[in-house]
Amino acid sequence: MDATTITVTGAAGQIGYALLFRVAAGEMLGHDRPVRLRLLEIPAGIRAAEGTALELQDGAFPLLQAVEVTDDPRAAFAGANVAMLVGARPRSAGMERGDLLAANGGIFAPQGAAIAAAAAADVRVVVVGNPANTNALIAAASADGVPAERFTALTRLDHERAVAQLAARLEAPVADVTGVAIWGNHSATQFPDIAHATVGGRAAPELLAERLGGTDAATRWLDEEFVPRVARRGAEIIEVRGSSSAASAANAALRHVRDDLLGTGGGRTSAAVVSHGEYGVPEGLVCSFPVTSDGSGYRIVEDLDLDDRGCARLGASVAELVEERDAVRALGLI
Ligand code: NAI
Repeated sequence: MDATTITVTGAAGQIGYALLFRVAAGEMLGHDRPVRLRLLEIPAGIRAAEGTALELQDGAFPLLQAVEVTDDPRAAFAGANVAMLVGARPRSAGMERGDLLAANGGIFAPQGAAIAAAAAADVRVVVVGNPANTNALIAAASADGVPAERFTALTRLDHERAVAQLAARLEAPVADVTGVAIWGNHSATQFPDIAHATVGGRAAPELLAERLGGTDAATRWLDEEFVPRVARRGAEIIEVRGSSSAASAANAALRHVRDDLLGTGGGRTSAAVVSHGEYGVPEGLVCSFPVTSDGSGYRIVEDLDLDDRGCARLGASVAELVEERDAVRALGLI
């Protein structure tokens, strides 16, 4: 099998460190597919990325054909089949949202252009670096000639968090949970939704009502505990661990790419993808939806009912995405 070229940006960061060894071990694309890794960093991160490359060599991974480290986006994305855009500019103290979007525009616009200029014709891109949805929008807008559908953003970590919280509440194995959905922005406004989920083949809302003593109690748990816990889990991890999610984010990024390229096997997952107007989400926004893939890229699942509560929550998150889009438009980034 031909080697797949995978470019990881922010490779010297904590997610990069948790991700690269698993990719090299074949956990992302399968244990029969050789990989070539390209590590993109800013000059200040190059030395640490070179250290990671030495350790990758020391792993003696049979599938790993090459590791290259560079601070040049064109070189990093040359021939890339998969681009995992992890490196981003974090919000520093006192930074306004507009400044954050502008700083990230300075990263994701040139990277989008470099992908268009140099990547393989089949390139698929996942944006992990925050604000992930809008960074993906910026990169896609800068990638002339690459279909916007190739640019996705990571909400799989939110999805896995929702699966785990639901399983824990019902004292069920996570493997029994299917059909959870994350809607909206990868932010505190997101809507983690279990309305169409099943656990061990039974409807999750029904099981929750049974377990918690009625539909009202189940709705209260969803509104007051489940949704805020999932949506604010990133902050909880920072508080408890002392730094932001890394291994769980890497795990989610790996699953996102695997399912995008190899398919979801008929099941549903969640990913932020470009809207064509599905569920009333304005066209062009990169928004999280329930999705499937047959290996040719994520497709939005279109036939789910959203009740009034779900519509209101999705609407609030979409309003935030619209604000972000308008802000980057005003900055001339899209
Ligand atoms: P980190 O700070 O440990 O590493 C980021 C790395 O990116 C640094 O080594 C930095 O030098 C590099 N970098 C910055 N600008 C770059 C550029 N223009 N090109 C290449 N590399 C560049 O951060 P960490 O923990 O690895 O997180 C990375 C991003 O992922 C953050 O934006 C974080 O908020 C986001 N994140 C997203 C999640 C999601 O579910 N979508 C979950 C967790 C984190």
